[in-house]
Amino acid sequence: MLIIGLGLIGGSLAKALKNKRFARVIAGYDRNSDDLQQGLDLEIIDEAVSDLTTAVSTADIIVLAVPVKATEAVLSAIKPYLNVNTVITDAGSTKANVIQAAQKVFGSVPVNFIPGHPIAGSEKSGVASSDEKLFVKHKVILTPLAESNKSATRLIARMWQSTGAEVLQMGVERHDEVLAATSHLPHILAFSLVDTLAKEQDSTDIFRYAAGGFRDFTRIAASDPTMWHDVCIANKQELINQIDNFTDGLAVLRQAIVTSDSQSMLGIFTRAKSAREHFNKMLSGTAYSQTHNNLHVTFHVRAGSALHGRIRVPGDKSISHRAVMLGALAEGVTNISGFLESEDSMATVQAFRDMGVVIEGPHQGKVKIYGVGLHGLYSPPGPLYLGNAGTSLRLLSGLLAAQAFDCVLLGDKSLSRRPMERMAEPLRKMGASIETATDGFAPVVIKGGQTLMGIDYQMPVASAQVKSGLLLAGLYARGTTCIKQPAMTRDHTERMLRSFGVELNTHNGEVSIASGQILTATDLEIPADISSAAFFIVAAAIIPDSDLIIEQVGVNPGRAGVLQILQLMGADVTLENHTQRSGEPVADIHVRYAPLTGITIPEALVSVAIDEFPAIFVAAAAAKGTTCLSGVGELRYKESDRIQAMTEGLTRMGIDITVNGDVILIKGGELQGAKICSFNDHRIAMAFAIAGTIATSEVMIEDCNYVATSFPDFIEVAQKAGIRIHKEET
Ligand code: S3P
Repeated sequence: MLIIGLGLIGGSLAKALKNKRFARVIAGYDRNSDDLQQGLDLEIIDEAVSDLTTAVSTADIIVLAVPVKATEAVLSAIKPYLNVNTVITDAGSTKANVIQAAQKVFGSVPVNFIPGHPIAGSEKSGVASSDEKLFVKHKVILTPLAESNKSATRLIARMWQSTGAEVLQMGVERHDEVLAATSHLPHILAFSLVDTLAKEQDSTDIFRYAAGGFRDFTRIAASDPTMWHDVCIANKQELINQIDNFTDGLAVLRQAIVTSDSQSMLGIFTRAKSAREHFNKMLSGTAYSQTHNNLHVTFHVRAGSALHGRIRVPGDKSISHRAVMLGALAEGVTNISGFLESEDSMATVQAFRDMGVVIEGPHQGKVKIYGVGLHGLYSPPGPLYLGNAGTSLRLLSGLLAAQAFDCVLLGDKSLSRRPMERMAEPLRKMGASIETATDGFAPVVIKGGQTLMGIDYQMPVASAQVKSGLLLAGLYARGTTCIKQPAMTRDHTERMLRSFGVELNTHNGEVSIASGQILTATDLEIPADISSAAFFIVAAAIIPDSDLIIEQVGVNPGRAGVLQILQLMGADVTLENHTQRSGEPVADIHVRYAPLTGITIPEALVSVAIDEFPAIFVAAAAAKGTTCLSGVGELRYKESDRIQAMTEGLTRMGIDITVNGDVILIKGGELQGAKICSFNDHRIAMAFAIAGTIATSEVMIEDCNYVATSFPDFIEVAQKAGIRIHKEET
């Protein structure tokens, strides 16, 4: 292997490849004989080449690690001795001009020439700075042409992979465009900023007192000037486009500062902050919050003492989503308190930021939304990524079907396996243009600019999400939209729309909304989430001697079925301190241990306890006798197939559970320690954590990262209540 140009990149590549014994001999060539000698002395290369003739003709691979500007000259110099089978690559940071250079020298680009660009570097330069780890976990972009030799491309890909890099392929033009934005522009800005400040009279002081921001932002201004000069020449047009784009953006910010336009400033800063935090998650298509992305979280639970005292669980997830949506559509500023700061609700916040809404917070449950009115949303810059949040995706489908712009809604793996046709089908009846992917899953693709018409719709499944999505579409549809539900579901959307001044008719499970109404901003207090409380309600109900109060929980009749089911099983659950918050009934839930007995769960309670079944399964497993459930088929379409997930886990814990068509029988018994799979479902993980509180030995629950979708501080609250639980992160 011959590396031409022994600077930081060439030297680091040689060092990394030598370490991996990628080539029998790594020879180096450099115009500067001192550098070459240094490469040899430092054992970065095996041989120093002073005359290219033999080295070129005997090399299997030649790497050009020279400034892009020198490519043409180097290719001309090696051309006479080049063997047709030799594979050539380069490491230049622009690609169109490298291709041009090859065309000029060879007439057409040789099939064995595979242009490449390692996106790694350092402000240091020179062979002495060579670092064998420079490329580890960095991206290398190869830009082979259509006619390039496939096995040569594979060889160069293998070469870079052996240095620890991740290899990607891209078209030449796209490469230059992307790099102009992500690398060249930031370098130009850093050089220009330092140069501008250095010219000021008191520059010594500026540099002496420059805090971290200046230092961090301008680190790259210490990079190699010649190289960056060459890059500017080589990628001139793309770079100019990016500079113009940036200058326009800066002018907008300048104007906001000139006019003390706080809303515009906050808009730019909050959007930028969340975009900065957001792009990694979106690219990886995994959990929403970065902190949960790469860790494996395992819960370990042991039986312990009774639960006592008072606890608070976080804000209601369903209501938090709706608060952001309606606050954004309102006229004026909405202040929210008690907001759930979790992955799911943050996905909704991000979606509205992507559509141009200024949202401050959340900070300690407080969120401030600068409403844009029903017609003030902007087209998002790309697909809206909603992580694990089914509620967000379905409600937004309804809302966005009525907008003037097109958009695409995406989710993580779990959300991409949940049925979306139930939402798309009635929206199409209203005149929407909305498509789902194979099997009716996300991505959901919406074409804007359609005129929606109100419909009378009988929902085939009892779904608050579908009902709410249609109500949001109904705000825009001509005439009246009327929805009939087969069973009672949560009515948070209806209650909250009323808080924003919208009139609806609700009667006997039917709800109708007329268009032409506006939303007026209001302040909202979000109660604690009964779905999160349910785990502690069940825990206190099954751990002898417990006496626990969960404060200020939302007890909307569309959500409180779990309380009735547990009471039917013999649980001692009472409600105290009843109040109303933003149109929602709220109370302290007081639970004292009492032995539970298996029952047949009335089907009428299923839709009002739909999210609490994982916890109810655990209560049934701890009860005396058999619990019979039917009509719970919807559980198969939640964040996981919850019937399968609970059956598998409880069976592992020694519980006799049978599923026969639509009927599930759970025979109460002694719960044993086990290793449990959470199926990446937050509520399955938390349900088994509760099962662990009365198990004979340790229960270990795997993949608990997703608990953060609804209850990020579950462990802390559980410990406070007295549960012996800890998490392990690997
Ligand atoms: C929700 C409705 C329910 C529920 C989900 C939240 C909502 O879903 O399971 O967790 O906020 O409207 P369906 O409407 O699909 O039953």
